[in-house]
Amino acid sequence: LHNILAFTVALARQAGTLILEGSEVIQSHSEESNVGEKKNSVDLVTEYDVRVEKLVQDRLKQQYPTFKFIGEESYSAGKRDPLTNEPTFCVDPIDGTTNFVHGFPFACISLGLIYERRPVLGVIYNPFLGHLYTGIKGHGSFLTRAGSDEPRRLPLSKNPKPLPSLNQAVIGVEWGSDRCETTMNAKSTSFARLAGDPEKGVVGGKMAHSLRSMGSAALNYSMVAQGGMDMYWEIGCWPWDVCAGIVIAEEAGGLVTGSHEVFEATKNTDQFGVVTEEILTGRKYLVIRGVGGTKDENGREAQKRLIE
Ligand code: IPD
Ligand code: CA
Ligand code: CA
Ligand code: CA
Repeated sequence: LHNILAFTVALARQAGTLILEGSEVIQSHSEESNVGEKKNSVDLVTEYDVRVEKLVQDRLKQQYPTFKFIGEESYSAGKRDPLTNEPTFCVDPIDGTTNFVHGFPFACISLGLIYERRPVLGVIYNPFLGHLYTGIKGHGSFLTRAGSDEPRRLPLSKNPKPLPSLNQAVIGVEWGSDRCETTMNAKSTSFARLAGDPEKGVVGGKMAHSLRSMGSAALNYSMVAQGGMDMYWEIGCWPWDVCAGIVIAEEAGGLVTGSHEVFEATKNTDQFGVVTEEILTGRKYLVIRGVGGTKDENGREAQKRLIE
């Protein structure tokens, strides 16, 4: 796995260069800066999403010809490797396409490896800020900042902060691109409950310090792993949004609930997409709750209580 990590880190940095080039083109608002739509007018895609995925897929196939590949853009185009117990790369070429299109510098490549239906390796690289997050199951997760070649173990604080209660927490949430009424009602109610004034009775005695939307699921996971956010909660992520992030967050001591089902539910079928969609439309939550001495049982219990 350490060799695969070295290879995928170099590849993520190469993909990062193409993402930065693409950003220049898109931000030029010239004729070349085409922005398309997928399922609705807020589900954006650019030729760079497709180009970055092709670059990454080609290089991975060359280096690891027997490994399977699942990526957002090839998956949407109907080219789907079924999820089996075999090693499978799970890639989001640009996570945070809306940010990419708007010039908001929170977008990344998210590159994960699944083995026996468990995410085992993750690389998340934000080329705009030069932040590289990596993790290998059982071997910790790390952040390497721009201009440094020294990975720092996550969470960054050597002295983890005590588990905050909900009303001292900063919580990541996302609007996503599913804007149907049911989802909007669920999200706006939940956001108000997390941030609302307890005096006005939104949720008894609890009012989070604040909510944040970073516009990238992978970067939300990374920020919880780093310790900058206490929790991230979203309805409706796809496997490529969360695969690398699961490893990075869990290795930092975070607790991930909901996300694993995306990988485990399919067992021996080739129904990966169908089951994923069922999970998403079944409105299962993706919650991670991070850092702070949480590898021990007591910490995990406390996390569970906080999530509930
Ligand atoms: C999206 C982003 C967004 C999240 C959505 C994802 P994309 O991915 O991660 O923050 O809210 O659920 O689909 O389309 O930018 O790769
Ligand atoms: Ca997308
Ligand atoms: Ca994504
Ligand atoms: Ca994407």
